[in-house]
Amino acid sequence: MAKVYVLTSGKGGVGKTTLTANLGTAMALGGERVALIDADIGLKNLDVVMGLENRIVYTLIDVANDKVGVFDALVRHKQIKNLSLLPASQIATKEMVSPEDMKKIIEEMKERFDYIFIDCPAGIERGFRNAVAGADEALVVTTPELPAITDADRVIGLLENMGFQDDKIHLIVNRFKPHMVRHGDMLNIEDIKSALSIDVIGIVPDSEEIIISTNKGIPLVLSDGNSESVMHKVLEDIVKRLKGEDVPVPKLSELEEKKGFLEILKSIFGRRRSGDD
Ligand SMILES: Nc1ncnc2c1ncn2[C@@H]1O[C@H](COP(=O)(O)OP(=O)(O)OP(=O)(O)O)[C@@H](O)[C@H]1O
Ligand SMILES: [Mg+2]
Repeated sequence: MAKVYVLTSGKGGVGKTTLTANLGTAMALGGERVALIDADIGLKNLDVVMGLENRIVYTLIDVANDKVGVFDALVRHKQIKNLSLLPASQIATKEMVSPEDMKKIIEEMKERFDYIFIDCPAGIERGFRNAVAGADEALVVTTPELPAITDADRVIGLLENMGFQDDKIHLIVNRFKPHMVRHGDMLNIEDIKSALSIDVIGIVPDSEEIIISTNKGIPLVLSDGNSESVMHKVLEDIVKRLKGEDVPVPKLSELEEKKGFLEILKSIFGRRRSGDD
């Protein structure tokens, strides 16, 4: 039975779709059977980020309307056979699907996958309620800026009211820029942690690599020449934590004062690799 994660944020544009694509792809590359669900009906872009937009025949709306079965609507990834996408429709509206529809669809999918990642739309209205309805755990994405953190806090409150226990809600801090923290222009991880008081499962640096790969429709974790990159490692480590492996999140509180984030990670991963030899 699949474990189902929803990536949500409240505030728009913080990286939900990018992280859904990359975490799902990294998980599938590890051999797990993975499905991605684009719950951003009306705007949809997970298909584009995955490079699968030309393969779509049916969408989530067709499944919700009983036009086709869910397994007929799933689009399989070109290279990774154990990775599929349930696409959203661009011409539909979020009101055309209900949280009950989502629960039913996900229950059916759970039997054939190990992990399901749901890409939630921005906001806290119907689209949010649809996206979280069938999820077991939530990955709340924020950037280190006050408006994003305030919205993340609101979303965490809503998730708790909807019955998510605290240990089922995890935070991903995306687009982290250590030099801004050093100059006092950005909140550091400890500030964010104490503001939101949930467990931080990943800190993802701001990176041009990810923008370049997104524009090519190839998730970064699948791009050639990136397998040794720090970004790749950061994403893989989040996937390991999602699988329950004990991979500590690097402690940045003191280090980020002294060094750049990428340097710290390089030194940590360098040490680990040489330690394995
Ligand atoms: N770590 C990162 N470093 C640099 N750019 C990033 C990073 N993560 C995401 N981005 C960029 O930020 C923009 C928004 O990302 P994305 O579309 O994933 O956000 P979203 O939360 O899904 O937005 P929406 O709420 O509109 O659905 C994109 O241009 C993406 O390439
Ligand atoms: Mg999105």
